[in-house]
Amino acid sequence: PVIIESSAVIKDGKVTGLRGFIMDISDRKQLEYERQRISKLDSLSLLTAGIAHDFNNILTVIIGNISLASMIIDGEDKAYKYLQKASNAVNMAKDLTEKLLMFSKGIEPNKKIISAEKIIRETVDLCLYNKTTKCIIDIPEDLVNIDADSVQIGQVFQNLIINAEQAMPKGGTIKITGKNIDLSENNIYNLPKGKYVEITVSDEGIGISKENLQRIFEPYFTTKDKGNGLGLATAYGIIKKHGGFINVTSVVGVGTTFVIYLPSSMS
Ligand SMILES: Nc1ncnc2c1ncn2[C@@H]1O[C@H](COP(=O)(O)OP(=O)(O)O)[C@@H](O)[C@H]1O
Ligand SMILES: [Mg+2]
Repeated sequence: PVIIESSAVIKDGKVTGLRGFIMDISDRKQLEYERQRISKLDSLSLLTAGIAHDFNNILTVIIGNISLASMIIDGEDKAYKYLQKASNAVNMAKDLTEKLLMFSKGIEPNKKIISAEKIIRETVDLCLYNKTTKCIIDIPEDLVNIDADSVQIGQVFQNLIINAEQAMPKGGTIKITGKNIDLSENNIYNLPKGKYVEITVSDEGIGISKENLQRIFEPYFTTKDKGNGLGLATAYGIIKKHGGFINVTSVVGVGTTFVIYLPSSMS
């Protein structure tokens, strides 16, 4: 996109020419688009926070009462198995509200100074199931530490790696890179100036269409039959809560790259 502005040059009452300029506004458009996307996610997260918080309190009461009831009745009692079933369902509901709380930045990270590489390697070992999926980790030795909750950040990578694997049903390679980065004032990510760790997770999968790309971080957005659409929403909330930024680029049929910025422990 460009802006064209021009005006006539008039001499002795006659138009003798045109004067103007053409300005490329691609960057400005991109920035506007980013801001819009983020403000939509932020208002969604505000709404989610309230609901999830109230739900969580109610569920805690239900769980407490089910376990009290289970304690006072006999294991042989007919009611016992129904209480068990209720308890399983409540635990699933609890799990769900926890994910929504993650999206809405409602869970405080338990921060420690840790190596992003260590979390990445552990997560890759943990969650690559298919033999047809390879993973290359390319992280320099001097990658600085981050001040982060290792469980939460592990969850982010787990979600990204599982998505990458699912995007490559015939197999392929996931590439994970790391880099130290200095962000200056007024960077396009709207992050405070400082030292960051940049992690990218790329796949060679099916890619994401332009329409879907705008929505993938929304809770419950999924294109999968058995998806729940909470993986990226929780990733988004966790990274934001850590003072970082997550973004995505994708080409349909070629692959997808997620980029994460996390503040270094030195900043
Ligand atoms: N690596 C990827 N390649 C292609 N599409 C992806 C990728 N990661 C996420 N997506 C898209 O984003 C949607 C939301 O992802 P997610 O929040 O993890 O939920 P789910 O995996 O349960 O669908 C997916 O359904 C898919 O359409
Ligand atoms: Mg997922």
